[in-house]
Amino acid sequence: MIRLLHLDGSARPGRSGEHAHGSHTRRLGARFVARWRRLRPQDPVVHRDVGQAPPAPVDGRWVHAAFTPPAQREPWMDERLAESDALVDELIASDLVVAGVPMYNFGMPAQVKAWIDNVVRVGRTFGFDRTRAGAPYWPLLAGQDRRVVLLGARGDHGYDPGGRLEADNLVERGVMTPLRYLGIEAFDCIAVEYDEFADARLQASLASAEAAVDALVDRLVAEAARRAPADPAARVAS
Ligand SMILES: Cc1cc2nc3c(=O)[nH]c(=O)nc-3n(C[C@H](O)[C@H](O)[C@H](O)COP(=O)(O)O)c2cc1C
Repeated sequence: MIRLLHLDGSARPGRSGEHAHGSHTRRLGARFVARWRRLRPQDPVVHRDVGQAPPAPVDGRWVHAAFTPPAQREPWMDERLAESDALVDELIASDLVVAGVPMYNFGMPAQVKAWIDNVVRVGRTFGFDRTRAGAPYWPLLAGQDRRVVLLGARGDHGYDPGGRLEADNLVERGVMTPLRYLGIEAFDCIAVEYDEFADARLQASLASAEAAVDALVDRLVAEAARRAPADPAARVAS
């Protein structure tokens, strides 16, 4: 079984191609999950829509609570951390995160940053001990074979590696750096460009991103089948 966590970060509620002014990242995420479900209906999917319901940003009370050892927390601290705990639980319970993350002002949307700030949690997803020689910080999600698929969208074009605006693209790096810090090592990135131009180049970019999504699902499903054949009898026979 592969447990999917499907995140949507776009502030736009609908999907492009189906709803006026709909989101391309929602379109790609929905396509990924629909194809996955068709090929592996047994896998559970949790949908977390941070675009429509952004997590509360980290504030002073959150920091105070998170850095108080659990045994010493007062009731208000547990309350303040309840949403963060739920988001951390979802991440820990997932094997594959499929995240729609549009570009807003060269970086990720604030609602996705709020999700990241809530899942980077001392004692839950990373360890910290200032007395520990050499490595006072360490990842708690390492070695768990978790993968993250980032589905992006941009109004302009040229943000991919080698492109004219590569250096301005802080989206993928901005998401991957804190998740790597937690110990997640496998990432795939697919993005649509030319949204602001709304011409044939956008249509071509959408077609190519959708083909890349389909190919990625097929590859990951084939890899999963190789690792753990669905039919237990086949495993015994081999
Ligand atoms: C607040 C905001 C900021 C944006 N900033 C950028 C930007 O810096 N660079 C860019 O190429 N497009 C930018 N765009 C365009 C979006 O990346 C584009 O519309 C994308 O398709 C949004 O993702 P979605 O279709 O999933 O909603 C911005 C859009 C919004 C709403």
